[in-house]
Order: sequence, then structure tokens, then C-alpha cells
Amino acid sequence: MSDQHSAAHAAEQAETRWVWIVAAIIALLLGMMAYMSLHWITMPPQRMETVNPGTLHLAGEFVEANLGSATEADGSITVRLVGSQYSFTPQCVVVPADTPIVIRATSADVVHGFSVTGTNVNVNLVPGYVSTFHAHFQKTGDHTMPCHEFCGIGHAAMWAHVKVVDKDTYARLAQKQGRLSCAEHS
Ligand code: CUA
Repeated sequence: MSDQHSAAHAAEQAETRWVWIVAAIIALLLGMMAYMSLHWITMPPQRMETVNPGTLHLAGEFVEANLGSATEADGSITVRLVGSQYSFTPQCVVVPADTPIVIRATSADVVHGFSVTGTNVNVNLVPGYVSTFHAHFQKTGDHTMPCHEFCGIGHAAMWAHVKVVDKDTYARLAQKQGRLSCAEHS
């Protein structure tokens, strides 16, 4: 009888110990959530940029004439893109190989996204925000750039091209026009 009693007591002690361990883990997780929420409130990500999706076509960085690839003073390329139901502007992006590239993009309506096949380029486009992505294409070639966020009935047909050309070809093209795209040849 007393053996049974002490066994039951030991089991109860073990259970109590585990209750406290589980409670401690839950408290730690809740504490982490509370800390991170407060942390993000007081220190929002510094690189977050906003833009008015309703006036993209009227003024500012994302007017149509400013879309496409631009050469910066340091030789890097900035590619500006807009996604809207159901296409990207420009429809064909031309960039030089072996060059640092910054993609700046946003959406005119709903959430879109794109990836560039065969590369690590993967960007989400959220209306109201500017998405920035740093890319570097090693080799020349053509890639497809499908929208990868479901954005409505035309989602599956929403995609663009990316054409990576060698530096000399790009430099020649860049002399002719300020903002480059290959949309007319696509
Ligand atoms: Cu745009 Cu899916």
C-alpha cells in the first residue's frame, strides 16, 4: 500500500515538474512575441518606403517614362517596374550581365509578385510600398518573369521577360535612350 502510494506521489511530482516546464516554454514564447511586437512598433524597418498607388502614373518615380533600366553614376543599374492586373510594365526588362542591379518595384492595384526563372530574384509587390531587390546576373540569356501571387482571374497570364545581354551590348543600347526596356521586341 505504501509502495503504491509513493509511486503515485513520484508520478505526481513528475507531472507537476512538466507542467512548470511547459508553462515556462509558453511564457518564453509569449515573451518573445511581446518583445518583438514592441520592438517593431518603436523601431520600424528603416528601409520601408511608401508610395501612393493611386497616382503612380501621374507623378514621381514610377511614371511610365521612368520605368525600365537606368544606368546610375556608379555604373550600377536600377530597374523600375510596376505590376498591375494583369501585366508588368515594362513587359520586357533588359539588363547587362555581371553588373550590380537594383530592382525597385511596386503595384498599382493588388498584391503581385515575381520571380525570374533560373535566378534567386523573387520580389513581392504590395500596393503602397516600394520593394527593393539586389540582383546580379552572371550570364547572358533570356528568362521569364511570372507573377507568383494570385492576383485575380488573369494571374496565370501575367508575366514578363528578362533579357540579360553582355555589357557592351547594353552600353550601346543605353546610348540611344535614357530608360531601357526590350518591350517592343518581345
Ligand atoms: Cu499578378 Cu498574379
